[in-house]
Amino acid sequence: MRIVIWNIDFKCNLLCKGCNAFQGNELFPRDKIDDFIDEMKYNKVKVVSVTGGEPTLHPDLPKIMKTLKEKGFFTHIATNGTNKYMLEKISPYLDAATISLDSHIPELHNEYRGRKIFDIVVDTMKFLKPRVKVLTSNMLVTNFNYDKINEYAEFVNKEIGVPVSMCFPDNTAYYYERVPVEKEQIKAAFKYASENYKQHKFGNTKSFYEEAVLWLENKEVSRCRAGQEVFYADYRGNVYPCFYKTDVKLNETRKWKIYDNNCNACFIQCFREPSIKKPIEQAKLIAGIYLYNRRSDSRAR
Ligand SMILES: C[S@@+](CC[C@H](N)C(=O)[O-])C[C@H]1O[C@@H](n2cnc3c(N)ncnc32)[C@H](O)[C@@H]1O
Ligand code: SF4
Ligand code: SF4
Repeated sequence: MRIVIWNIDFKCNLLCKGCNAFQGNELFPRDKIDDFIDEMKYNKVKVVSVTGGEPTLHPDLPKIMKTLKEKGFFTHIATNGTNKYMLEKISPYLDAATISLDSHIPELHNEYRGRKIFDIVVDTMKFLKPRVKVLTSNMLVTNFNYDKINEYAEFVNKEIGVPVSMCFPDNTAYYYERVPVEKEQIKAAFKYASENYKQHKFGNTKSFYEEAVLWLENKEVSRCRAGQEVFYADYRGNVYPCFYKTDVKLNETRKWKIYDNNCNACFIQCFREPSIKKPIEQAKLIAGIYLYNRRSDSRAR
């Protein structure tokens, strides 16, 4: 099933230590929205994950989401959760969302994100949960949270009623020297998730956590299908295999080229999780999250 990660803007209202989007001020142009959505349809894309920068800062986000939904896409947004107003506006057109929360300890999340937003983000999650089919929290695994997955999962599962998704940190594309994280720390986090998969509710497949550990041990993992099943589109409407292969433009013509992918350079969640060919495990995960979000015994409701 073809997925596009669509980066609709390069601007942000936060100052995360591992990202530089707040330095930019670029928006996907309004007059190209319809054409680009038609282009995705023509190329048989089924799922569009809207991201950024912070996508809720794009003034045309409601038009983007409405058009995607009207054209029959499964829609997802990745957001920092600070713009409840915009999320409410687009919720009729939204199937799924992940909201970034890097720690259950308010001071740690706030310090990493550069603003006092913890309470706002938790409130947004509780607000959005009944309005979308699938909602997860998204934690960037890094040096201040890798050893606290247990407590973090307890918090988001029990207090908010959402599963935990885990971002594999990339240390090349972002300004990473501000949050140095050791390979062994990343491994400890993903190992904990795979070994305690039944103890908490997670938002990734067990296979993703297992393969993350294998990848860190230089062992064999599923081949990356970025540029084949998963694509990256930027705020200019260029389509590439992934965030890093921006020298390989796939939409020189309306019909996209397919990338001859033999790359194993990263294990980033957006591209590697969907590359694992386990459709039944993935379908069960989505159905499980749907039911989990709706559990009547969740204290968060
Ligand atoms: C780039 S953000 C865009 C969406 C939104 N602004 C947000 O923060 O959720 C998407 C995800 O990438 C994660 N991210 C940020 N820096 C990263 C890094 N160095 N490596 C991997 N993921 C990173 C964020 O934590 C977030 O969960
Ligand atoms: S990770 Fe998201 S919220 Fe943080 S600066 Fe980057 S785009 Fe903004
Ligand atoms: S392994 Fe990483 S860098 Fe290589 S194609 Fe896949 S997503 Fe891109």
